[in-house]
Amino acid sequence: MMEVKTSLLDNMIGVGDMVLLEPLTEDSFLENLKKRFDHNEIYTYIGSVVISLNPYRSLPIYTPDKVEEYRNRNFYELSPHIYALADEAYRSLRDQDKDQCILITGESGAGKTEASKLVMSYVAAVCGKGQEVNKVKEQLLQSNPVLEAFGNAKTVRNDNSSRFGKYMDIEFDFKGDPLGGVISNYLLEKSRVVKQPRGERNFHIFYQLLSGASDDTLKKLKLERDFSKYNYLSLDSATVSGLDDAANFRTVRNAMQIVGFMEDEMQSVLELVAAVLKLGNIEFKPESRCNGMDESRIKDKNDLKEMCELLGIEQSVLERAFSYRTVEAKMEKVSTTLNVAQAYYARDALAKNLYSRLFSWLVTRINESIKAQAKTRHKVMGVLDIYGFEIFEDNSFEQFIINYCNEKLQQIFIELTLREEQEEYIREGIEWTNIEYFNNAVICDLIENNQNGILAMLDEECLRPGTVTDETFLDKLNTICADHQHFESRLSKNSKFLNDHSLPHNCFRIQHYAGKVLYRVEGFVDKNNDLLYRDLSQAMYKANHSLIKQLFPEGNPVKVNLKRPPTAGFQFKASVGTLMSNLQTKNPNYIRCIKPNDKKASHIFNESLVCHQARYLGLMENVRVRRAGYAFRQAYEPCLERYKMLCKNTWPHWKGPARQGVEVLMTNLQVPAEEYSYGRSKIFIRNPRTLFFLEEKRKQCLEDLATLIQKIYRGWKCRSHFLLLKKSQIVVASWYRRYAVRLLSKLLKHEMYFFQARKLLRELKYQKKCEEAVTTIAAFWHGTQVRREYRKFFRANAGKKIYNFTIQRIMQKYFLGLKSKLPSMSPIDKTWPARPYSFLDGVHAELRRIFHLWRCKKYRSQFTEEKKAVYEEKLEASELFKDKKALYPSSVRQPFKGDYLEISKNPKYQKLSSAVDEKILLADVVNKINRANGKGSPRLFLLTKKNVVLADQKTGQLKANVPLTDLASVSTSSQTDGFFALKLKEGSASAIKGDFLLSSDHLIEMITKLHRISSMAADREKLNIDILDEFLVQFKQDKVCVKFIQGSPKNGNSVSCKRKNNRLLEVSVPASS
Ligand SMILES: Nc1ncnc2c1ncn2[C@@H]1O[C@H](COP(=O)(O)OP(=O)(O)OP(=O)(O)O)[C@@H](O)[C@H]1O
Ligand SMILES: [Mg+2]
Repeated sequence: MMEVKTSLLDNMIGVGDMVLLEPLTEDSFLENLKKRFDHNEIYTYIGSVVISLNPYRSLPIYTPDKVEEYRNRNFYELSPHIYALADEAYRSLRDQDKDQCILITGESGAGKTEASKLVMSYVAAVCGKGQEVNKVKEQLLQSNPVLEAFGNAKTVRNDNSSRFGKYMDIEFDFKGDPLGGVISNYLLEKSRVVKQPRGERNFHIFYQLLSGASDDTLKKLKLERDFSKYNYLSLDSATVSGLDDAANFRTVRNAMQIVGFMEDEMQSVLELVAAVLKLGNIEFKPESRCNGMDESRIKDKNDLKEMCELLGIEQSVLERAFSYRTVEAKMEKVSTTLNVAQAYYARDALAKNLYSRLFSWLVTRINESIKAQAKTRHKVMGVLDIYGFEIFEDNSFEQFIINYCNEKLQQIFIELTLREEQEEYIREGIEWTNIEYFNNAVICDLIENNQNGILAMLDEECLRPGTVTDETFLDKLNTICADHQHFESRLSKNSKFLNDHSLPHNCFRIQHYAGKVLYRVEGFVDKNNDLLYRDLSQAMYKANHSLIKQLFPEGNPVKVNLKRPPTAGFQFKASVGTLMSNLQTKNPNYIRCIKPNDKKASHIFNESLVCHQARYLGLMENVRVRRAGYAFRQAYEPCLERYKMLCKNTWPHWKGPARQGVEVLMTNLQVPAEEYSYGRSKIFIRNPRTLFFLEEKRKQCLEDLATLIQKIYRGWKCRSHFLLLKKSQIVVASWYRRYAVRLLSKLLKHEMYFFQARKLLRELKYQKKCEEAVTTIAAFWHGTQVRREYRKFFRANAGKKIYNFTIQRIMQKYFLGLKSKLPSMSPIDKTWPARPYSFLDGVHAELRRIFHLWRCKKYRSQFTEEKKAVYEEKLEASELFKDKKALYPSSVRQPFKGDYLEISKNPKYQKLSSAVDEKILLADVVNKINRANGKGSPRLFLLTKKNVVLADQKTGQLKANVPLTDLASVSTSSQTDGFFALKLKEGSASAIKGDFLLSSDHLIEMITKLHRISSMAADREKLNIDILDEFLVQFKQDKVCVKFIQGSPKNGNSVSCKRKNNRLLEVSVPASS
């Protein structure tokens, strides 16, 4: 039933989750860790807590593929990994709107800083993408190298040990895209600036600057590359194997650029770093004054000068501040000289302050850049990477503070996991056997108690008037804390430690949760006071350097504050307090880092060292509580809400109390009873895998539900669309009906008026009819009366009346009879019915004439234009020749064709037709009569609108072209021959050749056309047609007479022309039959 695809149980080396360890003993616990460590499994769970062992070498488990593998997967689904925790935290932040914090604890070198970076890079990889988001991510990630360069250093425990505490809030919007962040820093270990324990280094940045900066930059900063030139840099471990300071310097500069530092800001920062190095080189020598006071003098002023040049400080001002100290009290100013020791103290204090203030400024400046822009509510993921618990040979104020901080973190872990868990079981009434665990609240109390806590007493000592030394502080502790079970001191009243030689006289020891730590009191008071002589801060304020001025605001003489600034311990306690309450509002995720050996070496698992850490981290208790308890709990309401879809009875609504609903749900899902318990307000699920099973089921169910919802939504959408359409249809229809009814009623109204009007009209008509009827009846009546009276006079007129009637009757019959007997419509139809009565003679003839005219008119009206022209020609021919020439009657039937030759189509005459540019109206072959013998020779005769053309019939060669204007007349006989003469005007151009005597078969047509054309032209005189049986023809010089005679029968039926003499041509024409 609890099948899952993958699980942390698959391919497990040892046990992935210590909760599953069997049997659970310290040995088996360590063995399990070792086994996993030997197989490169550095992560192991205790429930949801991740134990991380430092591998001290890079493992291939942080690749992008791994990120994808862990992305959106259930925590218990894959083998333990820091990515699983990061994913879980990120998803519950994004999906459940719970602010998260990731608490990374462990001692120095255990891998906290690395873990925090892994978490950040994982979140950056899985959260949203986009130009803006990527910029934010990049800035957040790049803040790390900057802060590490300035805040980390090589210690004996860790080559890259964080010397400050860091808490970073990453802010996200509702989608889970990063908006920005806020970094809080906690107490930088600034004593390191001036002095480093053996085998350790100053902060990385000093070494990075000297090895990585260009010659040019170094020159500007007045620095030399050689570390040994600087007092503040320890020499014995100046280079660290595996650390490339020069390359890191470039990384840091690049990171600063990405975060948003301006070029001049970076320069200022480096100037300050250089100034600190210079400061360390300033040395003092004693000089006795005549008044017996010891004074100090600066040995070699060159470094001082260069430092002052770098920071824009007047050398004399700083020189004075190193020689005198001014104490102001109530309007009084007292200056005392500083001896050599005091001068060194002042120098170091200035260096420490310069550096630590620079560091705080860096954090503020980074915050400015990475600050979230949007003001909207955002979700927060806090990542805490604080310096780990540390025990050195020589532990001072810094270690005390660091360890106090770790105590507090342990406290919050206990609060939130162990105690809270057990208390919850009791509260919920879950059967529970109490698990013993060490609660370190008592140690926290020893340090931070407001009345008699160590910090409170240190503050009291610092503020007390009179001589205050570290010894007086220890005395105080010895009296007040002597009885505390975690406080140990040789001189305390607690007799137990009187002979404890491991406890030197100037020390006290605290039994921290992680072990006993011996603190040397030397420097506690000074470090807590954190005093910087006012002369120095004022000298700094006077600097002509914007950054330095900002860092020493208290040096402003206008704002002299006589009150003591809060002590370092007080400030730290306050900021830790704020941090703790901040963490308590968030959902915690724990990464507990363990270092496997003290040698920074891979593959070495020092069992006793790990055992020690496991013990003080309370890991065993953690497992026990976890095993005795339940992996997961949830209030009934949200539980039911989350899983109710897994059971029909609870889905979609459960009516009863939530607890019952959850019970039904669990029974229905057949989860074994031992896997869960019902508390008062929560259900407790023992095994993570049960939860995972529920989640898996839910996921499946959600997919089904999504489909269902989609289906219903689509149905709903369609239906609502349909309903809308239906509703609209009703509205439209109702409006239409309303409109139609209105229209109808309007129509009806009109109809009614119309109807009434018609009725009225009807009535009026009826009335009028009645009146008419009355008149008619009256008239008839009168008529009858009158006729009766006059009847006797009628007979006398009867004859005439009968005659008229008869005539009318006959006429009627005649007209009707004629109508039915009318002849055809042909104009040449000569028939006409016979007249019935002679008295109708005139009428009958007249009717015939009228009918004929009408018929002709009808006939004419059908003519087309061409036909009309033809008839007009015919008419003209009749006018010219009818009864004048005997040839005429035979021409009536011949159609006037005009073009008998089709000159234009005949290729033979092509030349001719192109010479005649006018339209050819007539083309025929004629005989030109030779005057010499009277014989004819054929010629082409062409007539155009303007010319008469004669041409050779065979060749088409032009013989004569006579303009019509040159023609005087045409002569022809009155007989049936086709002879005619074209007479030319005397004196015209054509007359030179003489007249033409021609004979043609189409004489009538030819002459008619000639006449017609000449009569049509307005500018010409009419052509004369002479019809005579004897006429003169002018042949060149001579005039010849042409005479027509009746031919004798021997000539046959043809016309012949004979020359009789020089002046006579005789044409004999057969007699017309
Ligand atoms: N997951 C890891 N993979 C590889 N190397 C690691 C890993 N975690 C830590 N280391 C190595 O251990 C060194 C110390 O780790 P880190 O600086 O994180 O310790 P720390 O707990 O922050 O110590 P401190 O409290 O001193 O700051 C790192 O410089 C790195 O070389
Ligand atoms: Mg660290």
